[in-house]
Amino acid sequence: MGYADNCRVLFSEEEISERISCLANRISRDYEGREVVFVGVLNGAFMFFSDLLKKLEIPCEIDFLRAESYLGKCSSGQVTLKTELKNSVNDKHVVVVEDILDTGRTLEKIVDELKKSSPLSVKTAVLCDKPSRRVNSFKADYVCFEVEDLFLVGFGLDYNEKYRNLPFIGVYEG
Ligand code: IMP
Ligand code: MG
Repeated sequence: MGYADNCRVLFSEEEISERISCLANRISRDYEGREVVFVGVLNGAFMFFSDLLKKLEIPCEIDFLRAESYLGKCSSGQVTLKTELKNSVNDKHVVVVEDILDTGRTLEKIVDELKKSSPLSVKTAVLCDKPSRRVNSFKADYVCFEVEDLFLVGFGLDYNEKYRNLPFIGVYEG
């Protein structure tokens, strides 16, 4: 049995590339003339982050933090932020880049943490949004794909740390 046999393609590489280009254009327009720090949430956002950043046409800095909340296919309800940023976001415009917005706990916690450093602004960009799963009122500012309550893998998203390297977004049916 092949590595990705359990994964049904939901969004192809081409579709993802098109959506990311649209999002990058919007962000480049919205932040024209301003400098922005893009903060990637590891591990899941690594592929979306690099593809998005390559398509931006504004000056930007990058930084990363690490968040964990999932065990297998279930949100544990506890979000652990594991890394501190290399540089302060004080007095800077920040866009947090995340793989998927699910219950909303992770991004809510990250945004609350970042705001303690008094940035000029904090917005969020996500590859996938599952609004039906939300336990709070969190909304992302930039969304590539709105999806139903399916467990997704690929393009950074994992099931038990596997499948992150798939070039498409798939539904895990294992
Ligand atoms: P939240 O805190 O519930 O919004 O969860 C966000 C995190 O849960 C994401 O960064 C992912 O790491 C993980 N997650 C949520 N849904 C999925 C999924 O369908 N596939 C893989 N990871 C997921
Ligand atoms: Mg994640």
